Amino acid sequence: MSWIQAAYKAFQQNSKKLSLICLPIAMGEEKIGTLAVLCKSECEQDRDGTRHLMSIISIFVAQEIKLKRLLESEKEALRQENTLLRDELKSRYNIHNMIGNSNAMHQVYESITQVANSNATVLIRGESGTGKELVAHAIHYNSPRANMPFIKINCGAIPESLIESELFGYEKGAFTDAQDVKIGKFEAAHGGTIFLDEVGELSPAVQVKLLRVLQEKEIERVGALYPIKVNVRVVTATNRDLEQELTTKQFREDLYYRLNVFPIFLPALKERHADILLLAEHFLDKYAKENNKTIARISSLAIDLLSSYHWPGNVRELENCMERAALVCRTDTIQATDLPPSLQRVDTTNTHNKDLSYQCMVETFERELIIDALKKSKGNKSKAAEYLNTTQRIIGYKIQTLGIAISKFKNKSL
Ligand SMILES: Nc1ncnc2c1ncn2[C@@H]1O[C@H](COP(=O)(O)OP(=O)(O)OP(=O)(O)O)[C@@H](O)[C@H]1O
Ligand SMILES: [Mg+2]
Repeated sequence: MSWIQAAYKAFQQNSKKLSLICLPIAMGEEKIGTLAVLCKSECEQDRDGTRHLMSIISIFVAQEIKLKRLLESEKEALRQENTLLRDELKSRYNIHNMIGNSNAMHQVYESITQVANSNATVLIRGESGTGKELVAHAIHYNSPRANMPFIKINCGAIPESLIESELFGYEKGAFTDAQDVKIGKFEAAHGGTIFLDEVGELSPAVQVKLLRVLQEKEIERVGALYPIKVNVRVVTATNRDLEQELTTKQFREDLYYRLNVFPIFLPALKERHADILLLAEHFLDKYAKENNKTIARISSLAIDLLSSYHWPGNVRELENCMERAALVCRTDTIQATDLPPSLQRVDTTNTHNKDLSYQCMVETFERELIIDALKKSKGNKSKAAEYLNTTQRIIGYKIQTLGIAISKFKNKSL
């Protein structure tokens, strides 16, 4: 029996002594409930007072319900947004979105697929800018922990005095400035993955604490009396030579073996020539879109320069280079001159550049320009001359001296 049925029954049994006062609870036009009171008093004045009080209460109740509904709908919107963002991250860090077709990169994809589903600790190795962080993300977002947090901490960027409290948190009063409890990154990553970037930078004191977390699967906040159990998958990365640091005792051997359960090596870009062009085209596409430009191709001279450069900054440097090229490019083709000056300084010791003498570069550049113009004009010399702002005679001369087969461009679309 509902409370209103019980009230009505009581009212029927005592109808001579009781009066039932009912008021609607309204939110604008919508009636969301009823406020009912059984009143003993037979005096009309008392009943008026009760009605007045009830009308005030019904306003409060309506306001409370309105607020609750608002909070619920905001929570739901946030939940939906969160799901959308997670799905976006999952697709962004899908292995299929990683660029590279070289054998070395296929090995990396295979390693990610093999290890993602497990809880194994992963150590990602590779020079700066080779994609270590990208791989750490790919492992997390392709793992069963994908809907839980991915927490990154750059061990090299945090001062030694703060790293312990960043990683493990602290209790209130643990030190003078500890006004409140602080949750560390390990606790924040509970259920998910923690990515310790530049793990080789950790001091020996913190290395001991990290080893304990890996062995015991529990952390201790600074100033805490008891440890806290955490369920965190650890992924680490470094570009340092940890094996060398073992010999100088800068890195603990026991920690090294704990971290090195599943190593993934990212090759330097210069060791995977086949990927340079793929990546260059990928970044060109990305930055052309971002800058609302239509850039269809990269000229052969620019391709030569891109593939003969030694890329000390690896993929990151190539990405920056293509972003700049997309910005400065004024035609639909990236020319050698759109590339940064560091690439124009040809390293003559590099076997790829043997025949890129000054004269050869100039000729290749001229050939590129003329071929582009001939493509656009479908082999029409006078239109090609117009595109290049020169005379038909000069174009004719260059076509002859550079040995360009003009018939190839006739009646061909772009
Ligand atoms: N295979 C790849 N496909 C597409 N983009 C890539 C690839 N590898 C790296 N990148 C891009 O190159 C940039 C550098 O990558 P990332 O930050 O992962 O390198 P890193 O090895 O962590 O560098 P560092 O050692 O300096 O921290 C990022 O913008 C990343 O998205
Ligand atoms: Mg990194």
